Amino acid sequence: MQSADTDIQPAENIQSINPNESPAIEPETVSNPAKPLFQSVSITFVKEGKEAIASDGANLRIKAIETGIDLYTFGGKMMNCGGYGQCGTCIVEIVEGADNLSPRTDFENRKLKKKPATYRLACQALVHGAVSVKTKP
Ligand code: FES
Repeated sequence: MQSADTDIQPAENIQSINPNESPAIEPETVSNPAKPLFQSVSITFVKEGKEAIASDGANLRIKAIETGIDLYTFGGKMMNCGGYGQCGTCIVEIVEGADNLSPRTDFENRKLKKKPATYRLACQALVHGAVSVKTKP
């Protein structure tokens, strides 16, 4: 067995570091500040006149329930899937900011086939920017 010490080569081009010299700051670093760790988005519930602040990527159904918004009609209250994208009772209309939501899921495409393009299932939509929502359209 060969010793590992024989493979070690002396390092070349090592420059000494002077602690009194500050490293040059690249202009890109200054003009491109780090993205904040927490980004908030606003959700406006038009019919109810309420606004909720959520974190980026929040689930629209969960945030609506937390805000005290009633998403479901009578039938939906009696039988809904609890947010698993199976019943289609959490339909909302996106009045503004549809581009700020996650893309429609396959289930939404099937369930909302005959509905306007502005309709979404709240349980399937993730919020990434300001949106205005009309419940029970
Ligand atoms: S709660 Fe059932 S599909 Fe949204």
